Amino acid sequence: MTRAEIIEILTGTLSEPRFQHCLRVETIAHELAPHFQAPSELVSAAALLHDLCREYDRDQLLQLAANFGIVVDDIEKAEPLLLHGSVAAAIAETELGINHPWILEAITHHITGAPGISPLASLIFVADFIEPGRTFEEARLIRERALFLTPDCLLLKVYNRTIKYAVNQGYLVHPNSIAGRNELIMKGVNDC
Ligand SMILES: [Fe+2]
Ligand SMILES: [Fe+2]
Repeated sequence: MTRAEIIEILTGTLSEPRFQHCLRVETIAHELAPHFQAPSELVSAAALLHDLCREYDRDQLLQLAANFGIVVDDIEKAEPLLLHGSVAAAIAETELGINHPWILEAITHHITGAPGISPLASLIFVADFIEPGRTFEEARLIRERALFLTPDCLLLKVYNRTIKYAVNQGYLVHPNSIAGRNELIMKGVNDC
């Protein structure tokens, strides 16, 4: 599937603001791909498609997850919007013919992160958080310093912010975020 074909699908699926968000994630992910040692030829598909299902409602996501045979955990049952990555990956694979495991993993895990993810998935998780449409202070500070911090440090910052935000809002914290963060701490990564 070419980039132009993906763009056509997105414009028929997403609102204009969400489409523009996906384009910004793609741009910043391309800028940071060498820094993350992520294969640049995989960046566009992962970045553009990560939010393909972000505007589906909870019932649609649960229904699609069931149709695709996606295993839904307790946290996702309680907050089905967390499924918009897994469902997008299933659609990308079965309907769009995208089968590179790193692209599918990056789409699947872009919301919460997860331990052991590839450089591409790490890149998309970070890019989604720091794309220039994220105007809050913490995203701006990380964005400005992105090329001067290690990918692990950037990843830890995004985990910390994702978890703190969920706690502050009274939202559920997905265990993949905790496990992804723990993995970095155990590797000796500091919040630099
Ligand atoms: Fe998303
Ligand atoms: Fe996003």
